[in-house]
Amino acid sequence: MEKMWSGRFSASASNLLDQFNASIMYDRKLYREDIEGSQAHAKMLAKQGILTQDELEQILEGLNQVKQEIESGSFEWKISDEDLHMGIEKRLTQLIGDAGKKLHTARSRNDQVAVDFRRYVLRKNLEISQAIKALMEVVLEVANKHTQTLIPGMTHLQHAQPINFGFHLGAYLSMFKRDIERFESSYKRNNISPLGCAALAGTPHNVDREYSAQLLGFDSVSVNCLDTVSDRDFALEILFNISTMMMHISRLSEELVMWSSYEFGFVELSDEYSTGSSIMPQKKNPDVPELLRGKTGRVYGSLMGLLTVMKGLPLAYNKDTQEDKEGVFDAVETAEISLEILKEAIKTMQVKAQNMEKACAIGHLSATDLADYLVEKCNIPFREAHFITGHAVAKGEELGVDLSKMDFKYLKEIDERIDEDVMEFLQLRHSMNARTSEGGTATTRTKEQLEYIQNYLQENK
Ligand code: ARG
Repeated sequence: MEKMWSGRFSASASNLLDQFNASIMYDRKLYREDIEGSQAHAKMLAKQGILTQDELEQILEGLNQVKQEIESGSFEWKISDEDLHMGIEKRLTQLIGDAGKKLHTARSRNDQVAVDFRRYVLRKNLEISQAIKALMEVVLEVANKHTQTLIPGMTHLQHAQPINFGFHLGAYLSMFKRDIERFESSYKRNNISPLGCAALAGTPHNVDREYSAQLLGFDSVSVNCLDTVSDRDFALEILFNISTMMMHISRLSEELVMWSSYEFGFVELSDEYSTGSSIMPQKKNPDVPELLRGKTGRVYGSLMGLLTVMKGLPLAYNKDTQEDKEGVFDAVETAEISLEILKEAIKTMQVKAQNMEKACAIGHLSATDLADYLVEKCNIPFREAHFITGHAVAKGEELGVDLSKMDFKYLKEIDERIDEDVMEFLQLRHSMNARTSEGGTATTRTKEQLEYIQNYLQENK
């Protein structure tokens, strides 16, 4: 089978080489970007007088036909064509003859693949941002319902201070907002056209790079061709953006797994998004958050993979770079389904507010409030107040009662400066609502934070 590049070869490529060398079985995902890129390139060539108007029309028409063939499934993807660029160009030439052979003037597959892949990645940065917003809407709705629901705030996975569940979910909303900002800033930074860089050094043809860039929706034209054809920073960025987003999803998933255990009992995932056991009939397993946690590892793998592919490459294009695509496709598709299923799982889960509140009555969650009381009301230095509170906690342990339920007389015994009004300070809801500093958990502050997110989503639809 004759290759497009076979002019200097006397023997044809082995099947084994074809299999090893080809990217066509996966880079075909870029067919839309490739066809649009070729159409823009052809328009630019015609504007510059390099193609005639007639040739341009044949090329545009022919490429549309190729696109239809791909979309209807009649296009024949052949490993011997190596990649989608050559597969499409070959078919175009079969369809329209000589004009097709002129399309590759002032272009190389090196800038061609850089255009296609970059545009795919740019688009996905925006699509994933939108999907995060949809998830945030759902999380926000649950959060808004639970700004009064107490839940133990933890550090070291130990009960620390009472917070409300809306505040807890608000933490994830802040993370997701940063994730969106990362995708959007990658989009802005990388919206630069490689087209016209040709193989590595530019081209002697009188091209108008600004024009083709504009046709493709790029903001500007790349500065240095040698850099442009070998740069895969944009791909690394989306892998990092997805990895960080998945890390956030994984942390939330880990909490969902814990919360849906008997030990916590804070949420119940809906039947639709839970699975059973093949042997234990009573089981209801949180496979969704577990898989989200697991898939995070796989996404990190793609990031590490591409970083490693790139690290030793001399300028400019090297075939190693062809290994950039599968990991990105996989990470993007993993991100898309992960966002969708997490959204549904949260939308349909049941929040067991009573159990959350019950859990707050264990572990002396208002101990810090006693120390704060001693500082504020009794003018005791915090270190000393901390020490006195430690005694109170020890007494509670001895009696088997939480600080918030302890009889006042025991507190008075520990330090006689303590007055009866302390009892109010030790109430868990009081403790939560006392944290009114900016960004704090008090219901008033939580509502402010959720409103901020709501406004952000409203203004960034
Ligand atoms: N299939 C190749 C890739 O994905 C396209 C670029 C090939 N360029 C070349 N000079 N062999 O990287």
